[in-house]
Amino acid sequence: MTSRVFSGIQPTGQITLGNYLGALKQFVALQDQADAFYCIVDMHAITMPQDPSQLKERIKDLASLYLAVGLDPQKSTLFVQSDVSAHSELGWILQCLVHMGELSRMTQFKEKGEGKEAVSAGLFTYPALMAADILLYQSHLVPVGEDQKQHLELTRDLAIRFNTRFGDTFTIPDIMMIKQGARIMSLDDPSKKMSKSNPNPGSRIEMLDPPDVIRKKISRAVTDSDRVVRFDPEEKPAVSNLLTIFSLVTDKSIEEVVAAYDGKGYGDFKKDLGEALVAHLSPIQNRYAEIRNSGEIERLLQLGAEKARATAATTMDIVRQHVGLGS
Ligand code: TYM
Repeated sequence: MTSRVFSGIQPTGQITLGNYLGALKQFVALQDQADAFYCIVDMHAITMPQDPSQLKERIKDLASLYLAVGLDPQKSTLFVQSDVSAHSELGWILQCLVHMGELSRMTQFKEKGEGKEAVSAGLFTYPALMAADILLYQSHLVPVGEDQKQHLELTRDLAIRFNTRFGDTFTIPDIMMIKQGARIMSLDDPSKKMSKSNPNPGSRIEMLDPPDVIRKKISRAVTDSDRVVRFDPEEKPAVSNLLTIFSLVTDKSIEEVVAAYDGKGYGDFKKDLGEALVAHLSPIQNRYAEIRNSGEIERLLQLGAEKARATAATTMDIVRQHVGLGS
């Protein structure tokens, strides 16, 4: 049996190099080995306030980026979460299984809710919807960045709890994280992860940043106190983060990159990193522009939704039966 892969990205803001290296790039690698479902999780996006017309556009932007980085709709199923109502249905059932205490321990909820006057109940129960996304497709493997690890552990716990209480229903999914790159850090502060919601745009590379912006952001990225290009995440977190990025966009090992800058300062290293990023991202950006203007996206997403609905319906029939729901 081919294994089933599932993952999702929120259509909120500009997709960053962190999203790409931690998640999207793995999506592409996996599509040749597995039956992959990649989702645009718009229902998760509305756990925070969104402008409706902007959200609609961002869904299409993200779908175009999925294709531009190399996802092939012949190989992978690409779809929008809200097009498949089973996500909400199973999400509710799992909300009735998850404990308040478990949700309260989620660090992402604490971070996103911090300092806000009012936080939606949806932001709190968000991990139950994420578990539903994964479990609906009987997924074996979920490629994500490090910040989603806790949600994946909860998903596994919920699948086991459900199977124990109601009988075998769900495949227990495994998390898949790349060794280096599952947590790309901010360019202005290597103690924080690179994030689309950081108010400082200089803290991140966005996938659609023009070449000169990329070069400038890298030249301004913080470095560590000595002048040596060396990989040491403890002592030199800023340079180690840049080395990780360099290695991933050039497909060279970190050792190779370090060796190439032996005896050279940060100037040459950052200049070359800027160029390596431009060389890697430019073809993606060119494809993106073509795809986004092609008018093909809606049709592709409809096809993806049909396939996802059929797969999800099979799981939901069993779930309803096992829980005792329906007439
Ligand atoms: P989201 O939209 O915040 O991020 C999408 C993916 O990008 C990864 N990521 C990073 N990886 C490395 N370094 C970074 N700095 C970095 N920032 C983000 C995230 O770990 C993620 O893999 N809850 C999810 C979306 C979701 C989902 C799912 C994922 C909903 N349902 C089911 C997998 C399976 C989220 O908000 O990701």
